[in-house]
Amino acid sequence: MNAHFPYLLLTVILSVSFNVEALSPHYYDQSCPQADHIVTNAVKKAMSNDKTVPAALLRMHFHDCFVRGCDASVLLDSKGKNKAEKDGPPNISLHAFYVIDNAKKALEEQCPGVVSCADILSLAARDAVALSGGPTWEVPKGRKDGRISKAIETRQLPAPTFNISQLQQSFGQRGLSMHDLVVLSGGHTLGFAHCSSFQNRIHNFNLQKQVDPTLNPSFAASLNVICPAHNKVKNAGATMDATTTYFDNVYYKMLMQGQSLFSSDQALLTTPSSKKLVAKYASSMEEYERAFVKSIIKMSSISGNGKEVRHNCRRVR
Ligand code: HEM
Ligand SMILES: *[C@@H]1O[C@H](CO)[C@@H](O)[C@H](O)[C@H]1NC(C)=O
Ligand SMILES: *[C@@H]1O[C@H](CO)[C@@H](O)[C@H](O)[C@H]1NC(C)=O
Repeated sequence: MNAHFPYLLLTVILSVSFNVEALSPHYYDQSCPQADHIVTNAVKKAMSNDKTVPAALLRMHFHDCFVRGCDASVLLDSKGKNKAEKDGPPNISLHAFYVIDNAKKALEEQCPGVVSCADILSLAARDAVALSGGPTWEVPKGRKDGRISKAIETRQLPAPTFNISQLQQSFGQRGLSMHDLVVLSGGHTLGFAHCSSFQNRIHNFNLQKQVDPTLNPSFAASLNVICPAHNKVKNAGATMDATTTYFDNVYYKMLMQGQSLFSSDQALLTTPSSKKLVAKYASSMEEYERAFVKSIIKMSSISGNGKEVRHNCRRVR
């Protein structure tokens, strides 16, 4: 038997696992050099007509990565008896799927069957942040699209009522640290939340109090006006921070003043280490931008079991 056989075998095993794991900013350099540019244009165009697009894309990417890894499972439509993730309970803020569809259509014309929907979503989230005045970064690419999407699995997403240990567990299971949790929660600098997502803090908070005592009283009162106990306005809610279309550190500043929407935001102030990080990012936009880039690249590298590149992001091949 050839003496090199064991080495050969080892090399094959290493290169196979390498191909599955490694994402690279240069993944499409040969096969579709315009990929980044095409996605950016689709996001730009959509944003010029609809200011809610960036927040939607960032949340969509988070939602994708936290269920089955970043495999574009969030983009699949329900089919037959299968109810997909996007039709699961916390889909209330998911929208703007058409932006991904438009980017995919343009990409299929230039380089058919090459750029995965999971990569398109990751690029679109980057563009959403950058075009909202936040940092930009090179997106590592090479994700593959999955074939499974189940509404019931959206239960795996962290809930806005979570406390710090529940949040840490949810992030920890996906290889993300307490630091990543604090930094990525800063994504709540963009967008909007419905009353149902924070009603626990302003009505029947606990047996003693109607309102969460950690909320700034006048802020709580203003939320109460928008979201009365028997709220009848279908899409009522509040912006995530005072500068909702800008990616900035105002979220942290407001959080420190008792002006956050979710219990999960407030929870970041309940341990000394996370509280220190909140104060750090409230006081430095530069530090915040640097940290956000590191943590979002980590989040967007959570690997899934995808094996294919879809032609249409709503359907498996
Ligand atoms: C830490 C755990 C998290 C919880 C519990 C959470 C929960 C929520 C909830 C309940 C909403 C509002 C849904 C609605 O009422 O319409 C929301 C919105 C949003 N979340 Fe999070 N989230 C978390 C982490 C993240 C992360 C990591 C990101 C991205 C980096 C993110 C980005 C967003 C954005 C941009 C919106 C606004 C969406 C829009 O306006 O369309 N969230 N989040
Ligand atoms: C959310 O789910 C409901 C039903 O579960 C569905 O009718 C609705 O279209 C979904 N919304 C989005 C944005 O997919
Ligand atoms: C968080 O909530 C869980 C479940 O309700 C509970 O077991 C745990 O003790 C809570 N942790 C903190 C730090 O409050």
